[in-house]
Amino acid sequence: YIHNVILSGGVGSRLWPLSRKTHPKQYLPLFNGKSLFELTIERNRFVADKLMVIGNKDNDHLSQEILDKFDIDYSKVVEAVPRNTAAAIAFAALAVDEDDILIVTPSDHLIEDMEAYKEAMQKAIELAQNDFIVTFGVQPTRPETGYGYIEHSKENVISFREKPNHITAQDFIEQGNFLWNSGMFCFKARVLLKELKKFEKEIYEKSVIAWKNNEDGVLDEKLSMDIPSNSIDYAVMERSKKIKVVPASFIWNDLGSFESLYDYFVMNGHYVDRSGNMVIGTDIYTSFVGLQNCIFVNTPTANLILQKEYSQEVKNVYTHLEKRN
Ligand code: GDD
Ligand code: MG
Repeated sequence: YIHNVILSGGVGSRLWPLSRKTHPKQYLPLFNGKSLFELTIERNRFVADKLMVIGNKDNDHLSQEILDKFDIDYSKVVEAVPRNTAAAIAFAALAVDEDDILIVTPSDHLIEDMEAYKEAMQKAIELAQNDFIVTFGVQPTRPETGYGYIEHSKENVISFREKPNHITAQDFIEQGNFLWNSGMFCFKARVLLKELKKFEKEIYEKSVIAWKNNEDGVLDEKLSMDIPSNSIDYAVMERSKKIKVVPASFIWNDLGSFESLYDYFVMNGHYVDRSGNMVIGTDIYTSFVGLQNCIFVNTPTANLILQKEYSQEVKNVYTHLEKRN
């Protein structure tokens, strides 16, 4: 089988206060009344046979609400606590037949051009059947520090570098043979588990234990807490020699930070003033004096004012508020 695994356990902390703990960004119905989570299901119905949703217990009802709209077969893995993507992907791989192919997709991307998307997936599935771990590479447009970078020559990956600093990212872009990692992956369950075991034995072993003790797909909190928290990018992608890349010709938008949301909004005609300032969330007349490239975000219960280039740091506000609660 070919499974689409939708990762939906993130809290979207970089989009606070649009994205809240009780209502993460992937569930906001911002796109003609549909959420990114719903669009992800729609898109992948046509490339995979089965659907698996992996998310946190706090958001399970939000996923369920959307799943109920579809007439499709699906399974769910419900995490008691988020342990990041290495563990989440390990659960998915453990839940299926070891020769099954997984197409792992985040739940918070906006993708256009279905034909190109299907074509890229077809290529990826072929490579995955030959035991490669496939990434999808996007042409970079700015030295974004929140992404992974794939140094490549055609389908071959020379190196994978997760979240470089600004200077390094700039250097990658100047070199010209780097693509952004889209955050989607395609592989055979067995191949991924083998690589995870090789590079992060503890994550692998503790994920196996937690998975073995799941009850109807629901994971135990204590056993989950034991699993070291790491992303699949650092755990496997940066280290494995089995990585390939399919350069993406579809249109890809990661709406993960205010900087990417800003670019997306500008492309879609959202107003910015002459100094590059933008207002999100209110029609009340707002004026920026002496400020450049700032974003003002208004919600009923919290406001955010930020310098666009500091988008990655919004996470710290979220973390700070979490600690206070
Ligand atoms: N189930 C589950 N459990 N899902 C999770 C967890 C978890 O503990 N943590 C994160 N996710 C989900 C998020 O909801 C999102 O859909 C996806 O996994 C990726 O997590 P992010 O937190 O958004 O990762 P990132 O944006 O920092 O980086 C990744 O994506 C970039 C592109 O968007 C990396 O793969 C980068 O290399 C990549 O460039
Ligand atoms: Mg992201």
